[in-house]
Amino acid sequence: MPPSSLNAFWMPFTANQQFKSEPRLLTKAKGMYYTSDDDRPILDGTAGLWCVNAGHGREEITEAVSAQLGTLDFAPTFQMGHPLPFELAERLIKHSPEGMDHVFFTNSGSESVDTALKIALAYHRARGNPGKTRFIGREKGYHGTNFGGVSVGGLVNNRRSFGPLLPGVDHLPHAWVPGSEFTQGQPEHGAELAEALLRLIELHGADTIAAVIVEPIVGSGGVWIPPQGYLQRLREITAEHDIVLIFDEVITGFGRVGSSFAAKRMGVTPDLMTTAKGLTNGAIPMGAVFIQSHIHEAFMQGPPELIDLFHGYTYSGHPVAAAAALASLDIYEREHLFERALTLEAQWQASLHALREFEVVKDIRNYGLVGAIELHPGSRIGERGYQVFHHCFWKEHTLVRCTADTIALSPPLIVEPEQIDALMQALANGLRSLSTRN
Ligand SMILES: Cc1ncc(COP(=O)(O)O)c(C=O)c1O
Repeated sequence: MPPSSLNAFWMPFTANQQFKSEPRLLTKAKGMYYTSDDDRPILDGTAGLWCVNAGHGREEITEAVSAQLGTLDFAPTFQMGHPLPFELAERLIKHSPEGMDHVFFTNSGSESVDTALKIALAYHRARGNPGKTRFIGREKGYHGTNFGGVSVGGLVNNRRSFGPLLPGVDHLPHAWVPGSEFTQGQPEHGAELAEALLRLIELHGADTIAAVIVEPIVGSGGVWIPPQGYLQRLREITAEHDIVLIFDEVITGFGRVGSSFAAKRMGVTPDLMTTAKGLTNGAIPMGAVFIQSHIHEAFMQGPPELIDLFHGYTYSGHPVAAAAALASLDIYEREHLFERALTLEAQWQASLHALREFEVVKDIRNYGLVGAIELHPGSRIGERGYQVFHHCFWKEHTLVRCTADTIALSPPLIVEPEQIDALMQALANGLRSLSTRN
Protein backbone atom coordinates (compact mmCIF):
# COMPACT_ATOMS: atom_id res chain seq x y z
CA MET A 1 0.00 0.00 0.00
CA PRO A 2 1.50 3.37 -0.94
CA PRO A 3 1.35 5.97 1.86
CA SER A 4 -1.79 8.14 1.65
CA SER A 5 0.32 11.29 1.77
CA LEU A 6 4.02 12.11 1.83
CA ASN A 7 3.43 15.43 3.47
CA ALA A 8 3.84 14.94 7.23
CA PHE A 9 7.22 13.16 7.27
CA TRP A 10 10.00 15.76 7.09
CA MET A 11 12.74 13.64 5.59
CA PRO A 12 16.32 13.94 6.85
CA PHE A 13 19.13 15.18 4.56
CA THR A 14 16.64 15.29 1.67
CA ALA A 15 15.44 17.83 -0.86
CA ASN A 16 11.90 17.27 0.42
CA GLN A 17 10.08 19.26 -2.26
CA GLN A 18 11.93 17.55 -5.08
CA PHE A 19 11.58 14.08 -3.54
CA LYS A 20 7.87 14.44 -2.92
CA SER A 21 7.25 15.48 -6.52
CA GLU A 22 8.81 12.20 -7.75
CA PRO A 23 9.21 9.85 -4.79
CA ARG A 24 11.68 6.97 -4.75
CA LEU A 25 10.15 4.42 -2.40
CA LEU A 26 11.61 1.08 -1.34
CA THR A 27 9.21 -1.47 0.07
CA LYS A 28 11.15 -4.71 0.53
CA ALA A 29 14.73 -5.99 0.65
CA LYS A 30 16.49 -9.34 0.39
CA GLY A 31 20.15 -10.12 -0.13
CA MET A 32 21.69 -7.62 -2.57
CA TYR A 33 18.37 -6.16 -3.73
CA TYR A 34 15.69 -3.76 -2.66
CA THR A 35 12.25 -3.81 -4.26
CA SER A 36 10.80 -0.45 -5.26
CA ASP A 37 7.12 0.41 -4.84
CA ASP A 38 6.66 -0.16 -8.58
CA ASP A 39 7.96 -3.70 -8.05
CA ARG A 40 11.40 -3.38 -9.61
CA PRO A 41 14.38 -5.17 -8.06
CA ILE A 42 16.97 -2.49 -7.22
CA LEU A 43 20.61 -3.54 -6.89
CA ASP A 44 21.93 -2.08 -3.63
CA GLY A 45 25.24 -0.34 -4.34
CA THR A 46 25.30 1.43 -0.98
CA ALA A 47 24.48 -1.22 1.67
CA GLY A 48 21.48 0.95 2.52
CA LEU A 49 23.42 3.83 4.01
CA TRP A 50 26.78 2.11 4.53
CA CYS A 51 25.21 -0.22 7.09
CA VAL A 52 23.74 -3.46 5.69
CA ASN A 53 27.10 -5.19 5.42
CA ALA A 54 25.77 -8.78 5.50
CA GLY A 55 23.02 -8.07 2.97
CA HIS A 56 19.32 -7.57 3.54
CA GLY A 57 16.71 -9.66 5.29
CA ARG A 58 19.05 -11.96 7.19
CA GLU A 59 16.85 -14.50 8.90
CA GLU A 60 19.12 -15.07 11.94
CA ILE A 61 18.79 -11.39 12.80
CA THR A 62 15.01 -11.44 12.37
CA GLU A 63 14.75 -14.50 14.59
CA ALA A 64 17.10 -13.14 17.25
CA VAL A 65 15.19 -9.85 17.40
CA SER A 66 11.77 -11.45 17.64
CA ALA A 67 12.93 -14.01 20.21
CA GLN A 68 14.48 -11.23 22.30
CA LEU A 69 11.30 -9.15 22.16
CA GLY A 70 9.42 -12.14 23.55
CA THR A 71 11.97 -12.78 26.33
CA LEU A 72 13.11 -9.38 27.61
CA ASP A 73 11.87 -6.36 25.69
CA PHE A 74 13.65 -3.74 27.75
CA ALA A 75 15.72 -3.54 30.89
CA PRO A 76 17.67 -0.56 32.21
CA THR A 77 21.44 -0.45 32.20
CA PHE A 78 21.74 2.39 34.73
CA GLN A 79 22.68 0.69 38.00
CA MET A 80 21.00 -2.47 36.68
CA GLY A 81 22.01 -4.93 34.01
CA HIS A 82 20.95 -7.73 31.75
CA PRO A 83 23.19 -10.33 30.12
CA LEU A 84 23.22 -9.29 26.47
CA PRO A 85 25.38 -6.14 26.36
CA PHE A 86 27.99 -7.85 28.54
CA GLU A 87 28.09 -10.78 26.17
CA LEU A 88 28.12 -8.48 23.14
CA ALA A 89 30.96 -6.31 24.47
CA GLU A 90 33.08 -9.42 25.12
CA ARG A 91 32.38 -10.68 21.60
CA LEU A 92 33.14 -7.29 20.05
CA ILE A 93 36.52 -6.79 21.69
CA LYS A 94 37.73 -10.01 20.07
CA HIS A 95 37.59 -8.07 16.78
CA SER A 96 38.88 -4.71 17.98
CA PRO A 97 42.47 -3.52 17.68
CA GLU A 98 44.84 -4.67 20.43
CA GLY A 99 44.14 -2.94 23.75
CA MET A 100 40.68 -1.61 22.86
CA ASP A 101 38.99 -3.81 25.37
CA HIS A 102 36.03 -1.84 26.70
CA VAL A 103 32.80 -0.84 24.98
CA PHE A 104 30.23 1.89 25.72
CA PHE A 105 26.91 1.43 23.90
CA THR A 106 24.92 4.18 22.18
CA ASN A 107 22.12 4.25 19.61
CA SER A 108 23.76 5.86 16.59
CA GLY A 109 26.98 7.12 15.08
CA SER A 110 26.24 10.67 16.20
CA GLU A 111 25.80 9.54 19.78
CA SER A 112 28.98 7.48 19.57
CA VAL A 113 30.89 10.58 18.48
CA ASP A 114 29.52 12.80 21.23
CA THR A 115 30.15 10.02 23.75
CA ALA A 116 33.79 9.70 22.64
CA LEU A 117 34.34 13.46 22.83
CA LYS A 118 32.90 13.53 26.35
CA ILE A 119 35.00 10.54 27.43
CA ALA A 120 38.12 12.34 26.16
CA LEU A 121 37.31 15.45 28.24
CA ALA A 122 36.43 13.48 31.35
CA TYR A 123 39.57 11.34 30.95
CA HIS A 124 41.88 14.34 31.10
CA ARG A 125 39.95 15.75 34.03
CA ALA A 126 40.14 12.43 35.87
CA ARG A 127 43.91 12.54 35.45
CA GLY A 128 44.21 16.06 36.80
CA ASN A 129 44.35 17.90 33.45
CA PRO A 130 41.03 19.78 33.36
CA GLY A 131 42.52 22.40 31.01
CA LYS A 132 42.70 19.92 28.14
CA THR A 133 39.36 20.78 26.56
CA ARG A 134 39.95 21.64 22.91
CA PHE A 135 38.97 19.33 20.07
CA ILE A 136 40.64 19.09 16.70
CA GLY A 137 38.58 17.79 13.78
CA ARG A 138 39.41 17.97 10.09
CA GLU A 139 38.11 19.72 6.99
CA LYS A 140 35.61 17.51 5.12
CA GLY A 141 35.07 15.35 8.23
CA TYR A 142 31.58 14.03 8.97
CA HIS A 143 30.90 12.98 12.53
CA GLY A 144 27.13 12.91 12.62
CA THR A 145 24.66 15.61 13.43
CA ASN A 146 24.75 16.24 17.17
CA PHE A 147 26.38 19.45 18.38
CA GLY A 148 29.72 17.85 19.26
CA GLY A 149 29.95 15.96 15.99
CA VAL A 150 28.95 18.98 13.91
CA SER A 151 31.50 21.15 15.74
CA VAL A 152 34.40 18.83 14.92
CA GLY A 153 32.98 18.09 11.47
CA GLY A 154 34.28 19.92 8.45
CA LEU A 155 31.37 20.20 6.02
CA VAL A 156 30.08 23.72 5.65
CA ASN A 157 26.48 22.84 4.78
CA ASN A 158 26.19 20.83 7.99
CA ARG A 159 27.58 23.71 10.07
CA ARG A 160 26.47 27.06 8.71
CA SER A 161 22.87 27.12 9.90
CA PHE A 162 23.55 26.11 13.45
CA GLY A 163 25.22 29.00 15.17
CA PRO A 164 28.63 29.09 16.80
CA LEU A 165 28.66 25.38 17.80
CA LEU A 166 31.14 24.20 20.48
CA PRO A 167 33.83 26.67 21.46
CA GLY A 168 37.50 25.71 21.34
CA VAL A 169 37.43 23.58 18.20
CA ASP A 170 40.01 23.73 15.43
CA HIS A 171 40.45 21.73 12.23
CA LEU A 172 43.26 19.99 10.41
CA PRO A 173 43.49 20.51 6.66
CA HIS A 174 41.89 18.03 4.32
CA ALA A 175 44.33 15.12 3.93
CA TRP A 176 44.86 14.97 0.18
CA VAL A 177 47.35 16.55 -2.19
CA PRO A 178 46.71 17.51 -5.83
CA GLY A 179 48.32 15.04 -8.19
CA SER A 180 46.85 12.08 -6.29
CA GLU A 181 43.96 11.71 -8.75
CA PHE A 182 43.11 8.16 -9.82
CA THR A 183 45.27 6.61 -7.12
CA GLN A 184 44.34 3.00 -6.47
CA GLY A 185 44.20 2.57 -2.70
CA GLN A 186 46.18 4.92 -0.46
CA PRO A 187 47.90 7.88 -2.13
CA GLU A 188 51.68 7.86 -1.93
CA HIS A 189 52.02 11.55 -1.07
CA GLY A 190 50.47 13.70 1.63
CA ALA A 191 51.59 12.19 4.95
CA GLU A 192 53.19 15.56 5.71
CA LEU A 193 49.70 17.06 6.07
CA ALA A 194 49.62 15.45 9.53
CA GLU A 195 52.33 17.92 10.57
CA ALA A 196 49.59 20.58 10.63
CA LEU A 197 48.71 19.11 14.00
CA LEU A 198 52.08 20.28 15.33
CA ARG A 199 51.21 23.81 14.22
CA LEU A 200 47.89 23.66 16.08
CA ILE A 201 49.73 22.37 19.13
CA GLU A 202 52.11 25.28 18.84
CA LEU A 203 49.22 27.70 18.46
CA HIS A 204 47.01 26.44 21.28
CA GLY A 205 49.38 24.52 23.54
CA ALA A 206 49.11 20.76 24.00
CA ASP A 207 47.93 21.39 27.55
CA THR A 208 44.65 22.76 26.11
CA ILE A 209 43.95 19.98 23.59
CA ALA A 210 41.78 17.02 24.61
CA ALA A 211 41.38 15.04 21.41
CA VAL A 212 41.83 14.75 17.68
CA ILE A 213 39.03 13.06 15.76
CA VAL A 214 39.25 11.85 12.17
CA GLU A 215 37.59 9.26 9.99
CA PRO A 216 40.32 6.85 8.83
CA ILE A 217 38.63 7.10 5.43
CA VAL A 218 36.45 10.17 4.89
CA GLY A 219 33.02 8.84 3.91
CA SER A 220 30.20 11.35 3.62
CA GLY A 221 32.64 14.17 2.80
CA GLY A 222 33.30 12.50 -0.56
CA VAL A 223 35.33 9.31 0.14
CA TRP A 224 38.97 10.29 0.61
CA ILE A 225 41.60 7.67 1.35
CA PRO A 226 44.37 8.73 3.76
CA PRO A 227 47.86 9.13 2.30
CA GLN A 228 50.31 6.39 3.25
CA GLY A 229 51.82 7.16 6.64
CA TYR A 230 49.34 9.96 7.49
CA LEU A 231 47.39 8.16 10.22
CA GLN A 232 50.64 6.77 11.65
CA ARG A 233 51.98 10.31 11.95
CA LEU A 234 48.79 11.54 13.67
CA ARG A 235 49.20 8.67 16.10
CA GLU A 236 52.81 9.58 16.87
CA ILE A 237 52.05 13.25 17.46
CA THR A 238 48.96 12.63 19.61
CA ALA A 239 50.81 10.06 21.73
CA GLU A 240 53.71 12.42 22.26
CA HIS A 241 51.42 15.24 23.44
CA ASP A 242 48.94 13.27 25.55
CA ILE A 243 46.10 13.96 23.13
CA VAL A 244 43.36 11.36 22.77
CA LEU A 245 43.15 10.06 19.19
CA ILE A 246 39.63 9.14 18.09
CA PHE A 247 38.98 7.22 14.90
CA ASP A 248 35.41 7.56 13.68
CA GLU A 249 34.79 4.12 12.18
CA VAL A 250 31.03 4.45 11.77
CA ILE A 251 31.42 3.67 8.06
CA THR A 252 34.73 1.83 7.99
CA GLY A 253 33.90 -0.57 10.83
CA PHE A 254 32.56 -4.10 10.49
CA GLY A 255 34.31 -5.26 7.37
CA ARG A 256 33.92 -2.36 4.95
CA VAL A 257 37.64 -2.13 4.24
CA GLY A 258 38.71 -5.77 4.43
CA SER A 259 39.26 -6.08 8.16
CA SER A 260 36.99 -5.71 11.17
CA PHE A 261 38.11 -2.06 11.43
CA ALA A 262 40.21 0.29 9.30
CA ALA A 263 42.47 0.77 12.33
CA LYS A 264 43.39 -2.89 12.10
CA ARG A 265 44.00 -2.96 8.37
CA MET A 266 45.99 0.26 8.47
CA GLY A 267 47.94 -0.80 11.55
CA VAL A 268 47.19 2.30 13.65
CA THR A 269 45.42 1.95 16.99
CA PRO A 270 43.54 5.01 18.25
CA ASP A 271 42.57 5.56 21.90
CA LEU A 272 38.84 5.63 21.16
CA MET A 273 36.91 4.30 18.19
CA THR A 274 33.34 5.23 17.33
CA THR A 275 31.07 2.78 15.52
CA ALA A 276 27.39 2.13 14.63
CA LYS A 277 25.77 1.10 11.30
CA GLY A 278 27.21 -2.38 10.53
CA LEU A 279 27.16 -3.27 14.23
CA THR A 280 23.58 -4.55 13.82
CA ASN A 281 23.70 -4.84 10.02
CA GLY A 282 21.47 -1.77 10.04
CA ALA A 283 18.55 -3.75 11.42
CA ILE A 284 18.15 -2.02 14.79
CA PRO A 285 19.72 1.32 15.75
CA MET A 286 22.83 0.83 17.88
CA GLY A 287 26.28 2.36 18.25
CA ALA A 288 29.38 1.49 20.25
CA VAL A 289 32.48 3.33 21.39
CA PHE A 290 35.58 1.18 21.82
CA ILE A 291 37.93 2.33 24.56
CA GLN A 292 41.56 1.56 25.28
CA SER A 293 42.16 0.11 28.72
CA HIS A 294 44.37 2.98 29.93
CA ILE A 295 41.47 5.38 29.36
CA HIS A 296 38.96 3.11 31.04
CA GLU A 297 41.31 2.58 33.99
CA ALA A 298 41.49 6.33 34.63
CA PHE A 299 37.77 6.25 35.47
CA MET A 300 38.01 3.29 37.83
CA GLN A 301 40.17 4.92 40.52
CA GLY A 302 37.46 6.56 42.63
CA PRO A 303 35.46 5.08 45.51
CA PRO A 304 33.56 2.07 44.12
CA GLU A 305 30.16 3.44 45.16
CA LEU A 306 30.53 6.55 42.97
CA ILE A 307 29.27 6.67 39.39
CA ASP A 308 32.41 6.82 37.20
CA LEU A 309 30.96 8.51 34.08
CA PHE A 310 27.89 10.74 34.20
CA HIS A 311 26.82 9.81 30.69
CA GLY A 312 24.60 7.25 28.99
CA TYR A 313 21.36 6.73 27.11
CA THR A 314 18.13 5.03 28.18
CA TYR A 315 18.76 2.57 25.37
CA SER A 316 22.52 1.99 25.90
CA GLY A 317 22.88 -1.77 25.46
CA HIS A 318 19.19 -2.22 24.57
CA PRO A 319 18.40 -5.95 24.66
CA VAL A 320 16.79 -6.07 21.22
CA ALA A 321 19.61 -4.11 19.59
CA ALA A 322 22.18 -6.27 21.38
CA ALA A 323 20.43 -9.41 20.11
CA ALA A 324 20.57 -8.01 16.56
CA ALA A 325 24.28 -7.21 16.98
CA LEU A 326 25.09 -10.68 18.32
CA ALA A 327 23.26 -12.30 15.40
CA SER A 328 25.08 -9.97 12.96
CA LEU A 329 28.43 -10.94 14.49
CA ASP A 330 27.53 -14.62 14.09
CA ILE A 331 26.96 -14.01 10.38
CA TYR A 332 30.08 -11.87 9.91
CA GLU A 333 32.23 -14.52 11.59
CA ARG A 334 30.68 -17.55 9.93
CA GLU A 335 30.77 -16.06 6.44
CA HIS A 336 34.19 -14.41 6.93
CA LEU A 337 32.70 -11.10 5.86
CA PHE A 338 35.34 -8.99 7.59
CA GLU A 339 37.88 -10.38 5.13
CA ARG A 340 35.67 -10.50 2.07
CA ALA A 341 36.34 -6.94 0.89
CA LEU A 342 40.01 -7.89 0.60
CA THR A 343 39.27 -10.82 -1.69
CA LEU A 344 37.09 -8.64 -3.93
CA GLU A 345 39.32 -5.57 -3.86
CA ALA A 346 41.30 -6.24 -7.04
CA GLN A 347 38.17 -6.69 -9.16
CA TRP A 348 36.45 -3.77 -7.47
CA GLN A 349 39.41 -1.50 -8.07
CA ALA A 350 39.95 -2.50 -11.70
CA SER A 351 36.31 -2.21 -12.73
CA LEU A 352 35.84 1.07 -10.89
CA HIS A 353 38.94 2.67 -12.41
CA ALA A 354 37.85 1.55 -15.89
CA LEU A 355 35.24 4.34 -15.61
CA ARG A 356 37.95 6.98 -15.95
CA GLU A 357 37.48 6.73 -19.73
CA PHE A 358 34.51 9.11 -19.33
CA GLU A 359 35.63 12.68 -19.78
CA VAL A 360 33.31 13.94 -17.09
CA VAL A 361 35.19 11.89 -14.47
CA LYS A 362 37.60 14.01 -12.46
CA ASP A 363 38.91 11.41 -10.02
CA ILE A 364 38.30 7.86 -8.83
CA ARG A 365 39.19 6.66 -5.33
CA ASN A 366 38.89 3.25 -3.69
CA TYR A 367 39.85 1.14 -0.68
CA GLY A 368 38.30 -2.14 0.51
CA LEU A 369 34.73 -2.16 -0.79
CA VAL A 370 34.48 1.61 -0.83
CA GLY A 371 34.58 3.55 -4.06
CA ALA A 372 34.07 7.09 -5.28
CA ILE A 373 33.72 8.64 -8.70
CA GLU A 374 34.16 12.39 -8.58
CA LEU A 375 32.74 14.29 -11.55
CA HIS A 376 33.71 17.65 -12.95
CA PRO A 377 30.85 19.85 -11.78
CA GLY A 378 28.27 21.04 -14.30
CA SER A 379 26.66 24.47 -14.27
CA ARG A 380 25.44 23.92 -10.70
CA ILE A 381 27.40 22.01 -8.01
CA GLY A 382 25.77 18.66 -7.35
CA GLU A 383 23.69 18.65 -10.52
CA ARG A 384 25.66 15.95 -12.32
CA GLY A 385 25.99 13.76 -9.24
CA TYR A 386 22.22 13.87 -8.77
CA GLN A 387 21.60 13.11 -12.44
CA VAL A 388 23.72 9.95 -12.27
CA PHE A 389 21.98 8.87 -9.06
CA HIS A 390 18.57 9.56 -10.63
CA HIS A 391 19.43 7.74 -13.87
CA CYS A 392 20.80 4.73 -11.98
CA PHE A 393 17.67 4.42 -9.84
CA TRP A 394 15.04 4.84 -12.58
CA LYS A 395 16.77 3.41 -15.64
CA GLU A 396 19.37 1.00 -14.28
CA HIS A 397 17.44 -0.23 -11.21
CA THR A 398 20.52 0.42 -9.10
CA LEU A 399 20.98 2.40 -5.90
CA VAL A 400 24.10 4.55 -5.67
CA ARG A 401 24.72 7.56 -3.49
CA CYS A 402 25.81 11.05 -4.40
CA THR A 403 27.36 13.76 -2.27
CA ALA A 404 27.56 16.84 -4.44
CA ASP A 405 29.25 15.59 -7.63
CA THR A 406 30.84 12.52 -6.08
CA ILE A 407 29.17 9.14 -6.51
CA ALA A 408 29.90 7.02 -3.45
CA LEU A 409 29.72 3.24 -3.55
CA SER A 410 29.68 0.69 -0.74
CA PRO A 411 27.79 -2.49 -1.65
CA PRO A 412 26.92 -5.11 0.97
CA LEU A 413 29.96 -7.32 1.60
CA ILE A 414 28.09 -10.35 0.25
CA VAL A 415 28.26 -8.84 -3.25
CA GLU A 416 29.18 -11.34 -5.97
CA PRO A 417 31.66 -10.53 -8.75
CA GLU A 418 28.90 -10.42 -11.38
CA GLN A 419 26.96 -7.94 -9.25
CA ILE A 420 30.05 -5.72 -9.13
CA ASP A 421 30.07 -5.87 -12.94
CA ALA A 422 26.36 -5.00 -13.04
CA LEU A 423 26.91 -2.06 -10.70
CA MET A 424 29.74 -0.69 -12.84
CA GLN A 425 27.69 -1.20 -16.01
CA ALA A 426 24.86 0.80 -14.45
CA LEU A 427 27.30 3.56 -13.56
CA ALA A 428 28.80 3.55 -17.03
CA ASN A 429 25.31 3.99 -18.46
CA GLY A 430 24.64 6.75 -15.94
CA LEU A 431 27.83 8.56 -16.95
CA ARG A 432 27.05 8.06 -20.64
CA SER A 433 23.60 9.56 -20.13
CA LEU A 434 25.34 12.68 -18.78
CA SER A 435 27.57 13.19 -21.75
CA THR A 436 24.57 13.06 -24.08
CA ARG A 437 22.72 15.55 -21.87
CA ASN A 438 25.34 18.16 -20.95
C1 LIG B 1 31.89 8.77 9.98
C2 LIG B 1 30.50 8.95 10.50
N1 LIG B 1 30.33 9.33 11.77
C3 LIG B 1 29.11 9.49 12.30
C4 LIG B 1 27.98 9.28 11.55
C5 LIG B 1 26.64 9.51 12.13
O1 LIG B 1 25.94 8.32 12.30
P1 LIG B 1 24.38 8.36 12.55
O2 LIG B 1 23.74 8.83 11.31
O3 LIG B 1 24.06 6.91 12.89
O4 LIG B 1 24.13 9.25 13.71
C6 LIG B 1 28.12 8.87 10.22
C7 LIG B 1 26.93 8.64 9.38
O5 LIG B 1 27.01 8.44 8.19
C8 LIG B 1 29.41 8.72 9.68
O6 LIG B 1 29.59 8.37 8.40
